[in-house]
Amino acid sequence: MPFTIAIDGPAASGKGTLARALATHFGFAHLDTGLLYRAVGAMGGDPIDAAQRLQPSDLQRSDLRSAEAGQAASRVAAIPEVRAALLEFQRRFAATEPGAVLDGRDIGTVICPDAEVKLYVTASDTIRARRRALELGADEAQMLRELRERDARDAVRDVAPMKPAADAVTLDTSDMSIDDAIAKAVEIVERVR
Ligand code: C5P
Repeated sequence: MPFTIAIDGPAASGKGTLARALATHFGFAHLDTGLLYRAVGAMGGDPIDAAQRLQPSDLQRSDLRSAEAGQAASRVAAIPEVRAALLEFQRRFAATEPGAVLDGRDIGTVICPDAEVKLYVTASDTIRARRRALELGADEAQMLRELRERDARDAVRDVAPMKPAADAVTLDTSDMSIDDAIAKAVEIVERVR
């Protein structure tokens, strides 16, 4: 039986860093599901068509990490047919042996409701904006506006809104170093592993 770790949370909460660290620690595969929506947004044209035609090589585009790609992703992510087209790929990935870590917004609620471990990673929006500004070399105040806009869109959409699963453990990384957050996440997984 593969072991699945579902990690959800808002942008720049630290979920990607934790997902990569957990995958390395436990020898699991890792999927950053935000990249799927970023790639669909970046492909242009009809987003439903783009989601249905998406190939793993599309995830390698170098422009997917930008703030614009994040905004475009959150717009296409509100379209139910886009989400439906990406569901099977994510479920298949989650079945990788001996285990997989998926991070996104709806992993614990929709994609992998039976995941062995569910983490909801969060941090205050000002701290997330500072982290993202440092990472992208961008203006902090502008990052804060963009994060708030994206969080609001992701949280209120009708289909698969961003929210913690009822059985998720919430990890607030606002006042944690990366190493402390990783140690805490490893401890949470080891409790059930
Ligand atoms: O995680 P990341 O910032 O790369 O995600 C980009 C956007 O993709 C999010 O703002 C969200 O709208 C969408 N997304 C989603 N469901 C996921 C992962 C990402 O709706 N599982």
